[in-house]
Amino acid sequence: MPFPQIRMRRLRKSPAMRRLVRETTLRVDDFVYPLFVKAGENLKAPIKSLPGCFHFSPDTIGAEATEVASLGIPAVLLFGLPKAKDAGGSRAWAEDGVVQLAIKQIKDKTSDLLVITDVCLCEYTDHGHCGLIKDGKIDNDATCELLAKMALSHAQAGADIVAPSDMMDGRVKFIREALEANGFHDVAIMSYAAKYASAFYGPFRDAAESAPAANLHETALKNRKTYQMDPANSDQAMAEIALDIAEGADIIMVKPALPYLDIICRANERFDTPIAAYNVSGEYMMLNSAADAGLLDREPAILETLTAIKRAGADIIITYFAKQAAKQI
Ligand code: PBG
Repeated sequence: MPFPQIRMRRLRKSPAMRRLVRETTLRVDDFVYPLFVKAGENLKAPIKSLPGCFHFSPDTIGAEATEVASLGIPAVLLFGLPKAKDAGGSRAWAEDGVVQLAIKQIKDKTSDLLVITDVCLCEYTDHGHCGLIKDGKIDNDATCELLAKMALSHAQAGADIVAPSDMMDGRVKFIREALEANGFHDVAIMSYAAKYASAFYGPFRDAAESAPAANLHETALKNRKTYQMDPANSDQAMAEIALDIAEGADIIMVKPALPYLDIICRANERFDTPIAAYNVSGEYMMLNSAADAGLLDREPAILETLTAIKRAGADIIITYFAKQAAKQI
């Protein structure tokens, strides 16, 4: 007869007791803060689809990075909005590209902040796809060559970690080989290993001006479903992660986070590689919209959300809430 010998409430009776038996503790060290860098000068413009986030130009992003570092957040993740787009995404590896310039500015202003860069063509192609289009399809292997070029140019500009988010097969191998061949042995790869074709990227695509163009009529080009994962799959996520680790990924990512906590949990049980989870733009806006409507209490909801992601097994949490949460904990 467990009751009354066992009363679970004994361990919940006071804040100190709850602290003593708490299993998961959020730390500022867990966070990565995404930043958007846009071609231009003297720019700090609020992003409509992501209230609280801004477009920075390379010359203003250093000050923001300094603030992020002063909060104790260990890393930022950079997304670039180039001055021009073309079919091949050529501004992605330009020496004077927005991200390349931003990395240098951040590295000039801060010494202890890690710079992670998104490696993907969707913000750089005029059609908005993450890869090259050939005969009405995304050309996997030709895209991998370009992603390797892009990652290398980020490493040359001073990136600490490159983060391929395109979901082409083999891109981690291409990137690892390019980095090794050019002496960037210590530049890490954080691969978006299990990235789903999700409806929760909406606000981001607005912010990054990276949605697939509306004038593409081929079925394979209407959305990202021929490269991003089917939300119904879980075994396949394990296969994706295993492949990325075998190809040289140092950190693997599950994205989005909240609708995929089961995937984070499975990955954590199965792999020893650090796991990052991306609390994506749609998750950010769901919470914010409900809080703005007075339907839930913003601050505890943020910490509960991020704690849940960590409890599921994430070692690293990429979140637009990073600055706010850092101030709360
Ligand atoms: C680009 C990319 C996307 C996100 C991160 N990198 C969008 C997409 O794949 O369409 C989404 C991030 C977010 O929603 O916060 N490949």
